[in-house]
Amino acid sequence: MNNSGIKILVTGGMGYIGSHTVVQLIARGYRVVIADNLCNSNRNILSRIAQIAGQEPQFYEIDLCDKQALNDVFKKEEDIKAVVHFAALKAVGESVQHPLKYYRNNLISLLNLLEVQELFDANNLVFSSSCTVYGEPDALPVTEKSPVKPATSPYGNTKQVGEEIIKEQCTASNLRSIALRYFNPVGAHESALIGELPIGTPNNLVPYITQTAIGKQPFLRVFGNDYPTPDGTCIRDYIHVDDVAAAHIAALERLLNPPSESEGFEVFNIGTGRGNTVLEAIRAFEEASNQKLPYHVAPRRVGDIEKVFADTSLSNSVLHWKAEKDLHTMMASAWEWEKKLKINPLV
Ligand code: NAD
Ligand code: UD1
Repeated sequence: MNNSGIKILVTGGMGYIGSHTVVQLIARGYRVVIADNLCNSNRNILSRIAQIAGQEPQFYEIDLCDKQALNDVFKKEEDIKAVVHFAALKAVGESVQHPLKYYRNNLISLLNLLEVQELFDANNLVFSSSCTVYGEPDALPVTEKSPVKPATSPYGNTKQVGEEIIKEQCTASNLRSIALRYFNPVGAHESALIGELPIGTPNNLVPYITQTAIGKQPFLRVFGNDYPTPDGTCIRDYIHVDDVAAAHIAALERLLNPPSESEGFEVFNIGTGRGNTVLEAIRAFEEASNQKLPYHVAPRRVGDIEKVFADTSLSNSVLHWKAEKDLHTMMASAWEWEKKLKINPLV
């Protein structure tokens, strides 16, 4: 399959998963254009991408809610063939406090993108969705046929509604799209030049662990140890961000070279298929960093899912993709990134 030279627009390409995907796209020979308003990322990521990939992608600092600006990017770039759409706000708690901010940002940007894609006949789209659409699953592992549960946050709802909007647009137009439902992306690029960059106090487990280990947080709170799991703590399917990035390449290649049996809109789980408890994650970090992590058990976090992990057989067989990196590698890379960030901060 030779897709080299094909131009791909990556929205949110300066962010955590986007930057790792951009690096892999460039390595595969794609021409990458990034659109990002830097609301949750840092301009200096661009030169770090260039350091890893050997070339700097074209970058437009625009807000996708500004349709004219998006239109101008497509016009200027002329031959965008596909879009990988990461740009969204993603803080669950904040979305509960400011629902309209989330609906406006995540849905208006999507509508603008779909309209402009149609206008420019750029008919391929990879969409960032989330395992949050499954809520608390009735059965494990979760397959793509597992029911989508009523969203428990405006953020989660933007992913559910986003998938529906895209599906309907695929039926009504020439658009072809793949929605990737990520489980829990963690870790960082092996260079430690790019990684997750939480603004303020992290909500997610792994950045909280690494910030505790580096001394930015005094200790980790383990939210609940009375769940019906082997050690009483919640279970998640942690997956290395490089594996998540690789899934986008696989999805893109399916869209650009569609086999006859492919459908206009498809959904795939992106996880490892393994579930780990919070205490197992802590232990893996301690081993990878060779130090003890200060933590204590705190009450359950409201809204937490008890256990969720993916059935990845569909993505393995249809996308010809499989997560490769283990929990130790995830933790080791997250730790390298945190340490390097201290020596060589982005701002
Ligand atoms: P991120 O915040 O690091 O990256 C998102 C990027 O989009 C940021 O660079 C931000 O500046 C940009 N952005 C946001 N709104 C924009 C707008 N209106 N116009 C232009 N740029 C805008 O997040 P991430 O972790 O890389 O997540 C990427 C996508 O994956 C998001 O859609 C997120 O909801 C989804 N997702 C993430 C996770 C996770 O755990 N990280 C899990 C499931 C799904
Ligand atoms: C969160 C989001 C979810 C999103 C997912 C991936 C919430 C309620 N849900 O889920 O919508 O799809 O991230 O980005 O925020 N934990 C601790 N201490 C901490 C932080 C977390 O014990 O300081 C535990 C949590 O209780 C959970 C596990 O670690 O059991 C993972 O938490 P987190 O990284 O926030 O991910 P999710 O809960 O899966």
